[in-house]
Amino acid sequence: MPWDPVQYLSFDAERLRPALDLLARVPLEAPESVVDLGCGPGHVARILQTRWPGARLTGVDGSPEMLQQAAGALPGARWILADLADWQPDHPVDLIYANASLHWLDGHDALFPRLLTFLKPGGCLAVQMPRNHGRPSHLAAFEVAEAGPWRERLGPLLRRQPVAEPEAYVRWLEPWAPHLDVWQTDYLHRLEGPDPVAAWTRGSLLVPLMDALRDEERGAFLEAYRQRLREAYPMDGTGRTPFWFQRLFIVAKRETPG
Ligand SMILES: C[S@@+](CC[C@H](N)C(=O)[O-])C[C@H]1O[C@@H](n2cnc3c(N)ncnc32)[C@H](O)[C@@H]1O
Repeated sequence: MPWDPVQYLSFDAERLRPALDLLARVPLEAPESVVDLGCGPGHVARILQTRWPGARLTGVDGSPEMLQQAAGALPGARWILADLADWQPDHPVDLIYANASLHWLDGHDALFPRLLTFLKPGGCLAVQMPRNHGRPSHLAAFEVAEAGPWRERLGPLLRRQPVAEPEAYVRWLEPWAPHLDVWQTDYLHRLEGPDPVAAWTRGSLLVPLMDALRDEERGAFLEAYRQRLREAYPMDGTGRTPFWFQRLFIVAKRETPG
């Protein structure tokens, strides 16, 4: 699916904050090998490299457009075009950092423990995923997808509950990573401009839906979606639109033997 780095980065400050909140909790001093899984346009990879200048940094993503932007931002890193579901490193690594990417993959019960096996003992898996799928920003998209002539095409693409309860990740990871750090944060963004929540999801949730719609259908889909969002997210008295967005964070340190 064609990801658009420009659309995605239009809320750069809001999207960067959880990436930094996750990074702040990574308990590694000087990792030699760092993988940014689902690296997108590379803006977070640059921060990872700044925090650990001596680390070998690898970015992995399935979007050539995103990787091209990333390689421009950080030419010294290694960039790999791959499906995250199949990717595995050549050698065990110190840190796998995945910000806002793994909710695009299914089967977390198998995926998360598998990622732990790619770590050196003492290595760390750090993940942040949106958990806003039960909120109007996402429910409105599901409703419009199901209500129009595009229903049959969009139905199979709807990811209604891509992220499990926090307790499920504890169950899946704890046998190999007893020192788990799991938390949720609900961010209150105050967005500017017209229809800002729809502009936000254009860069993420709506990407596969827009891709599946015909050129002549996109306008009607977006207008129906925006109308629902205007009711769910009214502007406040300052002309900004308050937008709550919940995210789940997981930091799992693989046990060191002995
Ligand atoms: C929302 S962006 C996050 C980018 C970056 N991690 C950040 O923090 O800004 C999600 C990224 O995951 C990638 N992605 C989603 N599903 C993928 C898959 N199955 N395989 C590879 N990359 C995938 C997309 O191409 C996109 O660049």
